[in-house]
Amino acid sequence: MFQRFIGLMSGTSMDAVDAALVQIDAQGSLKLEAQHSLPIPPELRTRLLTISHTNAWSADELASLDIAFSEHCTEAVLTLLRIAKVRPEEVVAIASHGQTIRHKPNLVPSYTYQIGDPTRMAIRTGIDVIYDFRRKDIAVGGQGAPLVPAFHQQTFAREKQSIVVINLGGIANVTWLGPKGQVLGFDTGPANTLLDQWIHYCYPDKSFDEDAQFARAGQVQTDLLEQLLRHPFFSKPAPKSTGREEFNLDWLKLQLADQEVPSEDVQRTLTELTATSITDALKTLPQQPDAIYFCGGGTNNPLLMERLAQLLSPAKCDTTKSLGVDPQWVEAMAFAWLGWCYEHKKPGNQPAVTGASHPVVLGAKVLHQ
Ligand SMILES: Nc1ncnc2c1ncn2[C@@H]1O[C@H](COP(=O)(O)OP(=O)(O)O)[C@@H](O)[C@H]1O
Ligand SMILES: [Mg+2]
Repeated sequence: MFQRFIGLMSGTSMDAVDAALVQIDAQGSLKLEAQHSLPIPPELRTRLLTISHTNAWSADELASLDIAFSEHCTEAVLTLLRIAKVRPEEVVAIASHGQTIRHKPNLVPSYTYQIGDPTRMAIRTGIDVIYDFRRKDIAVGGQGAPLVPAFHQQTFAREKQSIVVINLGGIANVTWLGPKGQVLGFDTGPANTLLDQWIHYCYPDKSFDEDAQFARAGQVQTDLLEQLLRHPFFSKPAPKSTGREEFNLDWLKLQLADQEVPSEDVQRTLTELTATSITDALKTLPQQPDAIYFCGGGTNNPLLMERLAQLLSPAKCDTTKSLGVDPQWVEAMAFAWLGWCYEHKKPGNQPAVTGASHPVVLGAKVLHQ
């Protein structure tokens, strides 16, 4: 017997809403039944970016963007159901991450804010919607992120082995799974977000550096790399999480202020920043991993993957594909699993990861009736 859940994920990159239809059995094991990725159109993306990076917007704009993003998620779900030939009543719930427009885990009081009206989505799809997964962890003193380590443990942990799972989204986050069931995890800094923002600034018609062509044309500027690595986030001890609030174009331009660096060298150096900061972060783990598995959109960046494999050698590097899970779908599947946890009243946070005072059941639910 299994239950169906739909996980919806759109991360810091704001590239697409990823929708995964999964079957989850009584033990919480998952099988991916169907998937659909609905790209976020440029106009919607620009509005999301504006609201994320500035304070020059009205409550009306926030409300209408909340609806627009919810409509986009709804379209992703309806297409997914059509592809899978599954009816709404065959799905227990949609687990919707929403789009983060603010993540301020260190402010007092701390908060995180995801939009994408769940009520409208429940009515439009005819499926209950579980949402707001990060808030309760924050309410009990956690960072509200990363939330995927519990899912990584459920899906990837290997007895007597120390392994690491690294998600290369807009931000990179690492999960360490120890040989005795230990779990640690934290954000390591930017994975794709600065790469995307820099190429878009140089070439406004591009939203990412496809196959790292732009970066490959440049050289690593060692002084600039060292300067970027001095960002205090990198040396901060875990628990820690970050976002566009810290790693954005304004910060990067400030770093470049008094330097004449060719734009392709900046792109290449940013690639090296991601690879180096991840490598440095792994050195802080209690035990070095036997193997490292990557997931997320950054696994499609051949230069980034090449540099990671070189810097992390002799550790074995691979993607989660070799563990049986397509690297593109790990995050959306993780949220589907968190939806299953909510339904079964199982805590979804890992206090050792987020810094929360105790485990809590994450999310809130809107019924479709
Ligand atoms: N062919 C590719 N070459 C280089 N980078 C890629 C490629 N395909 C995807 N990416 C990167 O992956 C990002 C999307 O990754 P994703 O895991 O969806 O991030 P998020 O969770 O933040 O949405 C894109 O913004 C882009 O930077
Ligand atoms: Mg994405």
